[in-house]
Amino acid sequence: MARRAAEYRAAGRRVIDLTLGEPDFAPPAHVVAAAQQAAARPLGYTPANGIPELRRAVRQTLERDRGLSRTDAEVTVGCGAKQVIFNALLATLRPGDEVIIPAPYWASYPDMVRLCGGVPVTVPCAAESGFTLSPGALADAVTDRTRWVVLNAPGNPSGATYSHDALAGLAEVLRRHPSVMVLSDEIYAHIRYGAGEYVSIAQVAPDLSERILLVDGVSKAYAMTGWRVGWGIGAADLVRRITAVQTQNCTQTATVSQIAAVAALQGPQDLLTERCETYRRRRDAALAILQQSRHLDTRVPDGAFYLFPRLTAGDDLAVADALLEAGCATVPGRAFGAPGHLRLSFATDVAILEEGCRIIVATLEGIPAWSR
Ligand SMILES: Cc1ncc(COP(=O)(O)O)c(C=O)c1O
Repeated sequence: MARRAAEYRAAGRRVIDLTLGEPDFAPPAHVVAAAQQAAARPLGYTPANGIPELRRAVRQTLERDRGLSRTDAEVTVGCGAKQVIFNALLATLRPGDEVIIPAPYWASYPDMVRLCGGVPVTVPCAAESGFTLSPGALADAVTDRTRWVVLNAPGNPSGATYSHDALAGLAEVLRRHPSVMVLSDEIYAHIRYGAGEYVSIAQVAPDLSERILLVDGVSKAYAMTGWRVGWGIGAADLVRRITAVQTQNCTQTATVSQIAAVAALQGPQDLLTERCETYRRRRDAALAILQQSRHLDTRVPDGAFYLFPRLTAGDDLAVADALLEAGCATVPGRAFGAPGHLRLSFATDVAILEEGCRIIVATLEGIPAWSR
């Protein structure tokens, strides 16, 4: 959809693009300054698991934000959270191993699992239960072949988060299945609208820490998607295996990006709160328009920067096509394992976002196929 929107624009049509999954802010100024200074020096290869300064900054951040204490040997750095996840799957999956993925899911998980020889097992999670995996659904999905369960909160595309009790319920199931590992993708942890601290399964179930891989990075929180820095925090043996894969595919992520990531983690953090407030204003502005439509049922997301309305009727692909023709690009829910929904990113200027939402509401009123 993003590509088609770009093609329409290149042909001179006005299209509002609400497909993109990245912040529209510049990186913090002190991060850019650190990168500029570093780039003027000779920069060679780094250890495959990242420069020691970055691994230390990652574990200090974990201690500050989650109160969890880890060693440098339990941290590995890759080219974004995406590569860390891919490396972890490649390092651990045997052909036919199953990975439980709650749906709606980030579109990359199932493909990554398949590329690594595994079998994605998607578990639909209803909007009524906040798009989160219940202990019962997890217990039903586990088999002898289950290797991982993926938890992503706040979720892309749903924005859903898990409460302490919800995570405790999942942990209880996991205690009965000692060979199942947990991939906790926390890349949106800093973009949340509710009160209170973020809760990770690693805090709720410290007894499972050997089986949990926490994944995070600078992409979303610090608006540094293109810098390609993410990390995994897990048991030293797992981390060693992830690093072994990293060594033989791209050696390391860019040295200058690693230095910039240290500056991001160690610099002032007020920007994160300010940006959350901006996202919240945008979210509320979009909701105020979308919730007027009788064709959409739009849940208020707890985090991340997406709205994921359910279409009360109609096919998500056909509707996304019609919206694109009308001048607003969205992503059909089927891309995230949830047909009948649309994903809209609100990581965009509020006036443009409002215009896009008005196009959506007006178009849904007028789609001829709608009444079929
Ligand atoms: C849920 C989720 N995890 C991971 C990533 C990838 O992050 P990175 O840029 O650090 O590779 C994304 C990016 O869209 C995402 O939505």
